[in-house]
Amino acid sequence: MSDLYQKLETCLASVRKRTDFKPEVALILGSGLGDYADEIQIETTIDYTEIEGFPTSTVAGHKGRFVFGYVKNVPVVIMQGRVHYYEGYPMTDVVLPTRLMGMMGAKKLFLTNAAGGVKPRNFKPGDFMMITDHITTGIPSPLIGPNIEELGSRFPDMSEVYSRRLREVIRASAEKCGIGLQEGVYVQFTGPAYETPAEVRMAAIWGGDAVGMSTACEAMAARHMGIEVCGISCITNMAAGISKQELNHKEVQETADRVAKSFKKLVTEIIAGM
Ligand code: HPA
Repeated sequence: MSDLYQKLETCLASVRKRTDFKPEVALILGSGLGDYADEIQIETTIDYTEIEGFPTSTVAGHKGRFVFGYVKNVPVVIMQGRVHYYEGYPMTDVVLPTRLMGMMGAKKLFLTNAAGGVKPRNFKPGDFMMITDHITTGIPSPLIGPNIEELGSRFPDMSEVYSRRLREVIRASAEKCGIGLQEGVYVQFTGPAYETPAEVRMAAIWGGDAVGMSTACEAMAARHMGIEVCGISCITNMAAGISKQELNHKEVQETADRVAKSFKKLVTEIIAGM
């Protein structure tokens, strides 16, 4: 057994000491959605610090805990606070929570984040973008290193990272809620600095629609395990060089907070239909 799998087993044992809850859906909360977890029917919570070997989050505004409970009768595990590569963890630690939720039993993963829009004609701050695909060229692959055979194959297929079936569920849910929905490709960079205008132009030429510092690595690790994945970005700002303003975390949080109510409504509707 690889060291990494051993570490995952240790984390799982820590969780299992506290709860035998079997989630069907795993949900990772991005900026602005943090308090979504407080609004569901909570069964139990586990702080990341209570889990042996778990990378603990350091970003202001991100809580660090798993919340287990029900969203409209669907058993879910929610990550309230994710782990980012820019915090200094190796990529394998960044995706450890995703893998752990898969090992807890989650068959589906719902990713959310805040992102910068790179195409001004398509997006404005406050829009929601369903992720149709991603580009991870800007980050190291979380699958580098000895393959964890217990989780998946050495050369996993990535031709449909974001499930066609779940994309239909998201479209139908947005329509039912009367919430506008864009679609596009998410490009992950390492952060923590926001991109330069030249990097944003590059992302657009590559075929990207939004840029961010999370999510795609988690999606890749989940697909490696055969988990069905979907995701939505909240476009909190126009990316660098597109907006005339300088970027700052406050603006990102303000936009995320402004649309949080609609985002939560949409997330609930989607989970019920997953
Ligand atoms: N770039 C990267 N990450 C982000 C952005 C951005 O413009 N907005 C929110 N997260």
